[in-house]
Amino acid sequence: NAFFETKPLIFRTVLVVLCTGRTVEVPAGSVVRVQGAEVVIPCSVRDYGGPREQNFDWSIQKGSEDVQIISTWDNSYTSPEYEERVRSAKIALKRKSNNSIELIIEDVQVTDQGEYKCSTPSTDSTVSGSYNAQVYLKVIPDGLTVGRPKLRSLGSANITEGKSFELQCTASTATEQAHMSVAWRLRTAGEGGNGEIREVLSLTPGPRFEPGSEYKDRYQSGDIRLDTYGSDGYRLIVRNAQLGDQGTYLCVAGEWIGRTGSWQKIQEKSTEIATVSIQPIAQSLSVSIPENSLALNEGDDINLNCTVSATDDVMRSEVTWYCSQASGQSPGDSKALVHLNREGVSSFLDDFTMSRVEANTYRLLKQKADQSHAGYYSCRVIVWAQQSNGTWYKAATKTSKPVNVTVNLLEPKYKVLLSVVEIPKFSEEPTELECKLSDLKNTEGARLSVSWYFMQTEENDNSTNQILIANMDQDWSLQIQEQYKSRAEIGEMIFTKPTPEMFGFRIRWTEVSDRGSYFCAVSAWTRQRDFSWGKNAEVRSDPVKIFWSTEQPSLSVFANETRPVFSGGETFEMTCRGSAENVRTPRYSILIKAERLTDAGSRNIISLSRDSVVTLEDWADKDRVDDVALEKVGEDLFRFRIHRTQLSDAGKYHCEAAAWTPNAGGTWRQAVSGSSNAIQLHFQVSAGPSFDVQLSSDSKDVFRGERVELRCDVHARSAAVDSDDLAYEVKWFALRSYSPLGSLVFLASLDRKGVVSQARRNGSSDVSVERSGPRGFRLRVHGVEDQDFGNYFCFVAPWVRTLEGSWQRGLEVKSKPILVTVSIKVLDALIFPAVLGIGAAMVVGLLACLIGYCSSRCCCKRKVNEGRRDHHHLMAMEMD
Ligand SMILES: *[C@@H]1O[C@H](CO)[C@@H](O)[C@H](O)[C@H]1NC(C)=O
Ligand SMILES: *[C@@H]1O[C@H](CO)[C@@H](O)[C@H](O)[C@H]1NC(C)=O
Ligand SMILES: *[C@@H]1O[C@H](CO)[C@@H](O)[C@H](O)[C@H]1NC(C)=O
Ligand SMILES: *[C@@H]1O[C@H](CO)[C@@H](O)[C@H](O)[C@H]1NC(C)=O
Ligand SMILES: *[C@@H]1O[C@H](CO)[C@@H](O)[C@H](O)[C@H]1NC(C)=O
Ligand SMILES: *[C@@H]1O[C@H](CO)[C@@H](O)[C@H](O)[C@H]1NC(C)=O
Ligand SMILES: *[C@@H]1O[C@H](CO)[C@@H](O)[C@H](O)[C@H]1NC(C)=O
Ligand SMILES: *[C@@H]1O[C@H](CO)[C@@H](O)[C@H](O)[C@H]1NC(C)=O
Repeated sequence: NAFFETKPLIFRTVLVVLCTGRTVEVPAGSVVRVQGAEVVIPCSVRDYGGPREQNFDWSIQKGSEDVQIISTWDNSYTSPEYEERVRSAKIALKRKSNNSIELIIEDVQVTDQGEYKCSTPSTDSTVSGSYNAQVYLKVIPDGLTVGRPKLRSLGSANITEGKSFELQCTASTATEQAHMSVAWRLRTAGEGGNGEIREVLSLTPGPRFEPGSEYKDRYQSGDIRLDTYGSDGYRLIVRNAQLGDQGTYLCVAGEWIGRTGSWQKIQEKSTEIATVSIQPIAQSLSVSIPENSLALNEGDDINLNCTVSATDDVMRSEVTWYCSQASGQSPGDSKALVHLNREGVSSFLDDFTMSRVEANTYRLLKQKADQSHAGYYSCRVIVWAQQSNGTWYKAATKTSKPVNVTVNLLEPKYKVLLSVVEIPKFSEEPTELECKLSDLKNTEGARLSVSWYFMQTEENDNSTNQILIANMDQDWSLQIQEQYKSRAEIGEMIFTKPTPEMFGFRIRWTEVSDRGSYFCAVSAWTRQRDFSWGKNAEVRSDPVKIFWSTEQPSLSVFANETRPVFSGGETFEMTCRGSAENVRTPRYSILIKAERLTDAGSRNIISLSRDSVVTLEDWADKDRVDDVALEKVGEDLFRFRIHRTQLSDAGKYHCEAAAWTPNAGGTWRQAVSGSSNAIQLHFQVSAGPSFDVQLSSDSKDVFRGERVELRCDVHARSAAVDSDDLAYEVKWFALRSYSPLGSLVFLASLDRKGVVSQARRNGSSDVSVERSGPRGFRLRVHGVEDQDFGNYFCFVAPWVRTLEGSWQRGLEVKSKPILVTVSIKVLDALIFPAVLGIGAAMVVGLLACLIGYCSSRCCCKRKVNEGRRDHHHLMAMEMD
């Protein structure tokens, strides 16, 4: 019975001890009980004789008489007043041994207060000692209350291990003479509901604090305290809750009487205050990283927070960040990046740092992450708690779920634009292309490579056949495809990289086979994790079409008479314009040709090379070399001039042009040539009179050594010209054959001023020329030889002074021939009769033939002369 804790009482003999004898003992003094409580009063006997088992009677003194209550041996002993309570065992006797019993009164009432007497019937042989003893029972009203603070129901609290909690109860007593104690007890939930009750901390009536035996250390460390508040408040404060603190807490109030050293508890009341459950830290601890995954770009920071669910001050966290390559790996297999021990000292690896940014937040920071930092990051937290005696223990260990951290390589981005710097319009012109990059992103540290492609596209054909020309690698090494190697080697194809964002490609001499589309493809190379270079996606430019038509070159030459002449002596001018089609950068060379009346066929007059070098071609007139000029007056325009024109210049003039184009390698090649229309140079006015020339001789058949004399007479047919303004120039020729065919040999001449010039003579014979009259001229051959035979001619050209005073040469008139024969003398004939005979016969025959021929020819000639006469009119001329 928890209520009645019988303490050993000091029994005193009530009897005056005269001698040794029977002694009956009850608790000394008085027994104080609260109304309603159970009273247990022991009674024993000793030093008695007779049977060992003794009987006892209990009675109460009311007034002057005893009222019998209960007896061990006599049921009828009980007085009617107590019969009911004895029968219902509210008042009972309990035998403890042969010589001691207890009187038990349940639910004691104030009316039960009084002097109780325990008596033993005598079994002794002699009456000796005392046979009863008396004890006073005091019953006081119940003034003790204990309970929860007002309006509070039975509490329940969910406390995490390590946290603090406090419980409150009120207790008071109304009994003046009593002292009160307050105790906190814990009823643990044992197996099957019968847990044990532990004393936690009590305030004794002393009053002093008394911790339960299991709480001494924690009481010492201050983790367990008991406070009073108000007049009747008692508060239990538990810090650093431990798992063993779980259970139902009772507040027990006790009433005590007596004094220090002899306290007697008269009453005790208890009430349940709260049921406290303690959650292990391990269960409530949560370690989390807010992010599920973290996708970073290279160069970003890894910044992760590890949040630990709130812990108490008395706990310390030990935090470790891990990184593993596989998602399922346990922390043990992962790499510890940074560690923070429970003292707050961190140790780290590889530039990872950890800082405690908030009480329960631990930040992992890695600046400028690269791909090697990708992985599954987790943080592991060990929570350390401190025991009352100061030692630390691992309260819980928890690892966060892993965060998938990916580090993306930033792929370089840019645009590629192909532009044409130079486009050929003809073969062998240069082609230049520029491949430019723009809108570059993430290209720092990247290297660029370019590939040049060619697509042979025929006109109206969209089939694409890409041909790689060359490739410039990320290390700027150039790889040229086999078919282009030789052209690149001689510098015909040039690949450049003028700026980091530009590539150039130049074909110095574009060939017909180079016609087509070109494009460039640029790739960016970035460093890989193993430090090799990795190629990223290729960006292609739009193609650029290089095309020109390859039609046959053609050249048209146009001659224009820009200054016509009316009369001799004026300046004749004509221009020639060349216009070449389909010739690249043409340059012209010009040749002036003339078909003149005096020339047989056409004659090259003057030429101008493409380098503008002027060459006098077939210009016979040595006195007049300065009178012809050919000049380049425009890129394709040439001017031809004849100064001081002579009537003999009359004819058709035209130009022949050639268009030249530069070849690969700087040489020139004639692309095409052409001829212009002809320009007629003709004088409106003819110079000189119209006349005939007659050749005659009295001595045309001579002997060796004799003299031959020939007369050349001019017969004017038109009105006579004043002789001061007319002069004749006469030339003598011979044809050394009997027939009038063959080449004429110049003999001598007499110019208009009378100056004679002679050809060098071969033989011993000699010639003389002279004027024999105003219009007569004479040739004499002195001392003829055989070789002087032949047909003789005279050519007469008139010179007319124009109105301005210049002399202008007119058209030459040729005489009929005269055959001169040379004979040997009679003496010689005698010596050589046969020779003479044959010779005479032949001469006669030939002469006959000749006369026939000549007469027919003279008729023809006349016709020709008449046909031409129309043109030989007089005209004004500039003469020197
Ligand atoms: C009580 O007395 C009886 C005889 O009367 C004896 O047999 C018994 O042992 C005694 N008991 C004790 C506890 O002494
Ligand atoms: C205490 O917390 C635990 C887990 O948080 C829960 O299961 C339990 O029901 C709670 N108890 C009370 C009394 O609130
Ligand atoms: C980490 O926590 C700190 C403090 O609460 C906060 O300022 C910071 O933004 C958090 N960082 C991340 C990455 O969530
Ligand atoms: C503290 O108490 C724990 C158990 O409660 C014990 O194992 C430990 O040895 C004690 N430490 C000290 C320093 O007394
Ligand atoms: C982690 O992220 C990467 C990239 O997003 C993904 O390929 C991989 O599957 C993720 N891992 C897990 C376990 O989800
Ligand atoms: C070229 O393209 C046109 C339309 O773009 C198409 O009609 C034609 O058939 C194509 N020719 C070839 C040879 O592919
Ligand atoms: C020919 O030249 C004349 C005179 O200079 C000029 O007026 C004319 O336009 C030219 N003709 C052509 C076709 O060039
Ligand atoms: C002199 O002889 C040469 C060669 O035979 C000839 O060409 C030349 O015309 C002759 N001269 C004359 C005046 O006969």
